[in-house]
Amino acid sequence: MAITAPATRPANPRFSSGPCAKPPVFTLDRLSDAALGRSHRAAIGKAKLKDAIENTREILGIPEGYKIGIVPASDTGAMEMAMWSLLGARKATMVAWESFGAGWVTDVVKQLKIDAEVKTADYGDIVDLASLDFNTDVVFTWNGTTSGVRVPNGDAIPADREGLTICDATSAAFAMDLPWDKLDVTTFSWQKVLGGEAAHGMIILSPRAVERLETYTPAWPLPKIFRMTKGGKLIDGIFRGETINTPSMLAVEDYLQALEWSKSIGGLKGLIARADANAGAIHAFCAAKPWIANLANDPATASNTSVCLKFTDDRITDGATFAKAVAKRMEAEGVALDIGAYRDAPAGLRIWCGGTVETSDIEAMLPWLEYAFETEIAAL
Ligand SMILES: Cc1ncc(COP(=O)(O)O)c(C=O)c1O
Repeated sequence: MAITAPATRPANPRFSSGPCAKPPVFTLDRLSDAALGRSHRAAIGKAKLKDAIENTREILGIPEGYKIGIVPASDTGAMEMAMWSLLGARKATMVAWESFGAGWVTDVVKQLKIDAEVKTADYGDIVDLASLDFNTDVVFTWNGTTSGVRVPNGDAIPADREGLTICDATSAAFAMDLPWDKLDVTTFSWQKVLGGEAAHGMIILSPRAVERLETYTPAWPLPKIFRMTKGGKLIDGIFRGETINTPSMLAVEDYLQALEWSKSIGGLKGLIARADANAGAIHAFCAAKPWIANLANDPATASNTSVCLKFTDDRITDGATFAKAVAKRMEAEGVALDIGAYRDAPAGLRIWCGGTVETSDIEAMLPWLEYAFETEIAAL
């Protein structure tokens, strides 16, 4: 039987899980107000950096007492700054269920070499947060970008914990409700849910995290770009936009534009609704097709941003080659770019569903997924 290609293509085929699609209204012209060729310490630069911090606070609903900083080196920079500055004061619990969480385990166990219990789950599953000792410092990833498995809520994190919670929320912030009272350190990058640029990371500190910073000095040396205190006091300027080193004012402008767009579509609520609708369209597609399934085993943990899929058809013998062929065919057709599973993850696809992606584009892409699947099956 001939396999017919769908009649329409998505208007935007960008479904990469980072850098993610830019907001639908994005054009380079929107960056024309960037403070280029000026010192980031001039009034205009400082005002823009402060705006980036305050708009982040407003949209994400971050409590007033929490500090928000713009730091170097994207989410990795923010997470490593947190771990190098805060860990070692007490035992740590390192939690991982995909490759980025596993990367933080390596940092702590092999590089910092601190006393840590490691709790892991396979791709598709999650570590039960209720099983953790929150009197230790717990490091975890809210949304596992490479497995599409997320923490369903923060209920298991006790309010009276003695340890700190350090959360990599890079593919969760702006797409999921984050319980700020349960998170002592939260990090993310502009390149993820808002489709910004990758240069900078954000670090959000609870009052308890600030207290730790001011009362504990790690035994190891800290490079300048990780230092958040001076003389035992928080460097407050960092959290007003006086960055440790020079930021890209073009990336700052781009982030400010993405924040403006977020407000125009209803802020966090609007962003979550868009991600939910996108992921929901894929979930419905999988439910209707016997040959594809979500990698997340428990629907309560299925991501609404990095939706990871596996092929379940038993005619497929080499899963990795098959999935790569499907992704390549969709890329060649111009209907989906960068949707192959992450290099360390099980064979399959990963389709970004964050709020910058239009549901109409997901809906236009899915018939092409079926077309690519059928075509590759026929070629086996
Ligand atoms: C969960 C998670 N942590 C960390 C990173 C690294 O982010 P970056 O490259 O922005 O530092 C990523 C990137 O995809 C991620 O998904």
